[in-house]
Amino acid sequence: MPNLDKKIILITGAAAGIGCATAKLAAAQGATVFMADIDIDAGEKAAAEVNATYLHVDIADELSVQAMVAAVKEKYAHLDVLINAAGILKGAYVPLGEFNIATWREVMDINTTGTFLCAKHAAALMRNAGRGVMILISSLAAVGGSSSFAYGASKGGVNALALCLEHSLAKDNIRVNVVMPGNIDTGMKRSVIATEAEQRNISIESAVSALKLGNPEGVARVLVWLASDEANYVRGVICTR
Ligand SMILES: NC(=O)c1ccc[n+]([C@@H]2O[C@H](COP(=O)([O-])OP(=O)(O)OC[C@H]3O[C@@H](n4cnc5c(N)ncnc54)[C@H](O)[C@@H]3O)[C@@H](O)[C@H]2O)c1
Repeated sequence: MPNLDKKIILITGAAAGIGCATAKLAAAQGATVFMADIDIDAGEKAAAEVNATYLHVDIADELSVQAMVAAVKEKYAHLDVLINAAGILKGAYVPLGEFNIATWREVMDINTTGTFLCAKHAAALMRNAGRGVMILISSLAAVGGSSSFAYGASKGGVNALALCLEHSLAKDNIRVNVVMPGNIDTGMKRSVIATEAEQRNISIESAVSALKLGNPEGVARVLVWLASDEANYVRGVICTR
């Protein structure tokens, strides 16, 4: 695995799943890691295990995102890598006519607006150093459809946002990648599977085995490599399992 020595890395959604696995691996490769999440208990516990710094954040709230980035700036004055893994999936298997606007807005606010806010404030800090890497986590749902109208649309928005960021930030020596995982065994995926199993009246075990889930550590290996200087010729969208 690549060496991340001296890299300052901020990971959102780091209390669980893909973000947490990535924080562990990045720290093991020598990075100084900030683990940001809305879930204080899980975030503090995970950060203590990784020997990282926990930051409380709600990525949908601009003041909260500003405070998260300011905490990194206060300690290290710059940021090498942002990995935005925070996200939610709500409204799975809800029919179009019953899909309520509050659910739509909540998913868009966190997944798309939240990604925008993290990129906006992280870029300001990266510009100071004249370099940086941004990795936005989207989903194969962005191009292949989703069990949730809001989730699929929100991740399509992340892909489009990444293209705009790439055009705008290349001149500042900030590399932007968007990563689209498939079906990965995390709390988020398990809860969608439970809904599907209930609707189809099948067991959770059979729904799980039909999907052949990947593990968060596999995605973490891709993310850590992308964060490293070894990946500095990689542009655009990357698909994983
Ligand atoms: N698991 C999959 O199959 C899969 C597939 C494709 C994409 N993804 C994406 O990967 C990312 C990580 O997902 P995961 O499967 O590890 O999910 P997860 O639910 O295990 O972890 C998501 C983390 O984000 C945090 N979070 C949620 N809302 C937040 C907010 N407003 N501010 C800050 N933190 C917040 C949660 O507390 C949680 O710790 C998400 O963006 C998800 O959409 C997951």
